[in-house]
Amino acid sequence: MKRSTQILLKTLTWIACLSPFLLLVYQAITNNLGPDPTAKITLTTGYNALLLLIISLAITPLRTLFPRLSWLIKFRRLLGLFAFFYASLHLATYIALYMNFDLSVFKTDITKRRFIIMGFAAWTLLLPLAATSTTWAIRKLGGKRWNRLHKLVYLAAVCGIIHYWWQVKPGVLSPMRLTIALALLLLARPVLTYIKSRKTRAVAVP
Ligand code: HEM
Repeated sequence: MKRSTQILLKTLTWIACLSPFLLLVYQAITNNLGPDPTAKITLTTGYNALLLLIISLAITPLRTLFPRLSWLIKFRRLLGLFAFFYASLHLATYIALYMNFDLSVFKTDITKRRFIIMGFAAWTLLLPLAATSTTWAIRKLGGKRWNRLHKLVYLAAVCGIIHYWWQVKPGVLSPMRLTIALALLLLARPVLTYIKSRKTRAVAVP
């Protein structure tokens, strides 16, 4: 892909990823966050964290299915870091606006409310991935170890989905779309590995 196209796509990705945040800031400044601003910020940041995480997981299967899209790899780190950015804003909103910085309430929540425990697990799993997202960290850890560590992203996404289901009221099906998307991506992994190994064998045996 041409360098100018790459720069254009990166700029568009930055705009797309930042737009939910900028919209929240605009709505906050203009007093347009609705009747429950705290819930609006928490729900928007939580949803976008999970959405970006799942989009970032789609990149590897897409590259395997369509080798011409191998350049997509350059966007995986960006999407993952934006997912972590929204997850951290989500956690910060919870601590600042729900808890009023009262960490004793947070301590109770984190041990007693199962959906908070699951959300915290998802965020904690994302933390080492964000911390080791630099080229320096990849070199330091070595490709194999880095890859193994970054498999945690699947577990983080699963925890995020469970957290989503556990926080909606019974009968509400809003987490279904993201759940189906994640289930397909998890299923795609072994299927694509199998297809890839068959292709390799076919090339090896003339
Ligand atoms: C310690 C970490 C976390 C805490 C304390 C937390 C807390 C919350 C709370 C209180 C809500 C409900 C808001 C409301 O109903 O007003 C919520 C919703 C949500 N959270 Fe989290 N969360 C955490 C981590 C995460 C992470 C890491 C993700 C994503 C990977 C996530 C994704 C979501 C989603 C998708 C929703 C529902 C959004 C919607 O209904 O549109 N959360 N979280």
